[in-house]
Amino acid sequence: MTAPAAPHRSLDELTLGSAMSLEDLLSRDGLSEMVKSANELFGVPIRVFGEDGKLLADAAESIDLYAYLNTSRAGRAALSEVVAAVKALAPGPDGAAQYQCVTGALYRVVAIEYDSRQIGRMILGPFAESTSAGPPPSLVELDPQLDAEQLRALYRKLPKSDDATVVRVAQHLAKVLDLLLFSGHRALLTSNMHLASVRESFRELEDKNQKLQVAYDRLKELDRLKSNFLATVSHELRTPLTSIIGYSEMLVEGLAGDLTSEQRDFVQTIRDKGDQLLALIKGLLDLSKLESGTMSLRKNHVDVAALVKDVVSTMAPTARKKEVELAFEVEKGLPAIWADAERLRQVLLNLTENAIKFTPVSGAVRLSARITGMEAQNGGDAGGMVLLGARRTAVEMRVADTGIGIPEVERMRVFDAFYQVDSSSTREAGGTGLGLSIVKRLVDGHDGAVRIEANQPRGTVFVVTIPVKRATIG
Ligand SMILES: Nc1ncnc2c1ncn2[C@@H]1O[C@H](COP(=O)(O)OP(=O)(O)OP(=O)(O)O)[C@@H](O)[C@H]1O
Ligand SMILES: [Mg+2]
Repeated sequence: MTAPAAPHRSLDELTLGSAMSLEDLLSRDGLSEMVKSANELFGVPIRVFGEDGKLLADAAESIDLYAYLNTSRAGRAALSEVVAAVKALAPGPDGAAQYQCVTGALYRVVAIEYDSRQIGRMILGPFAESTSAGPPPSLVELDPQLDAEQLRALYRKLPKSDDATVVRVAQHLAKVLDLLLFSGHRALLTSNMHLASVRESFRELEDKNQKLQVAYDRLKELDRLKSNFLATVSHELRTPLTSIIGYSEMLVEGLAGDLTSEQRDFVQTIRDKGDQLLALIKGLLDLSKLESGTMSLRKNHVDVAALVKDVVSTMAPTARKKEVELAFEVEKGLPAIWADAERLRQVLLNLTENAIKFTPVSGAVRLSARITGMEAQNGGDAGGMVLLGARRTAVEMRVADTGIGIPEVERMRVFDAFYQVDSSSTREAGGTGLGLSIVKRLVDGHDGAVRIEANQPRGTVFVVTIPVKRATIG
């Protein structure tokens, strides 16, 4: 653990208690209760002061004699002398010093100590000795303006006790205080330690958060650079590749003279591989455009039935070659959806291509479309729909196969760019792992959703849901 920052108290300070005051250690209510009950029991006024002179607890009723003295100038002067003297009185080594005031009343001053340090004072008094017969001459002669009879009467009303009892009460209170201070100190230490460790954990968390933010920003920047790099490289590769394809096509067609059949085979291979490379580059370009948000979707009303039919007829030769049955079924009366027809076609083509690729000979691939509902997405342009919790009408397109299937744990990851399920059959099938990441981003661009389900008894179903209406209200 490192030391907490400067404005906080250090751990040493918290545990050694060098800065502890009476107020830190005891609740004022508890202190008042204790002092009051002692006052009720023994009738002696008691006050407790902190080390800084602050009054912390007070169990003393106003004394009529003092109130009367306050009405005369000499009386007032004498009383303020008493206050100053009692304040200045250092509690003796036995912890109880005595002071006798001009009225003859006594005070006892007791030190409150903790850990061999004085942290406050307790003042018991004024009280008159129970054996005293009457006021001393100093009181009666204080001011000729004060009525001697009245003074005698008020003197008799002073709290009575004998000094030995008051000293015992003082000692008893000091012991109780000591106990209270000990447990108060322990509680304070515990809570301070707890506070310090919470503060420390918080600081560590803040630190980690900051580091995470820096790492996150850096990753974002790297991701942006990667997208830019992908876009530039794919674009630059495409131009020479178009020439390679064009020229090999011309060679195959004999535009540069007749080729032997072996030469034609070689050139044909160059052409085929060139096409494959072009498809891959187009995929990369699409992905980088989708990632940077620069791909614009040209949305219009799209007839799903026509789209499905078109995809099936495009993929029919591939299916036939692989000896996989390809069929489709579209619900009657499907509404048109608001989408980019070309991009949606790309989505279905990618899914169908995968389905055929990962389905062994004599399997089946089935495309279907039906009407359904979908929760409004949390996207910003879903607007009030989210608040209303409305379900939007949508069209669901399914591509189901009877192939090798996708284990549940892989179902989220296959949408990551370049991710392929690590099985020998996937590797045998070829491909780069871009298809599904493009599918996911294109579907997102349509406010739609794509998910994977297991087919029964085997295989995979990709379910794409696209809302029928544009994602604005009205
Ligand atoms: N219908 C499916 N059945 C079983 N596995 C599938 C299916 N579709 C996708 N996968 C798994 O998901 C992975 C990612 O698919 P994706 O279409 O992104 O890449 P790919 O087909 O391998 O390559 P590309 O599409 O770029 O040519 C595949 O490699 C395969 O492991
Ligand atoms: Mg694919």
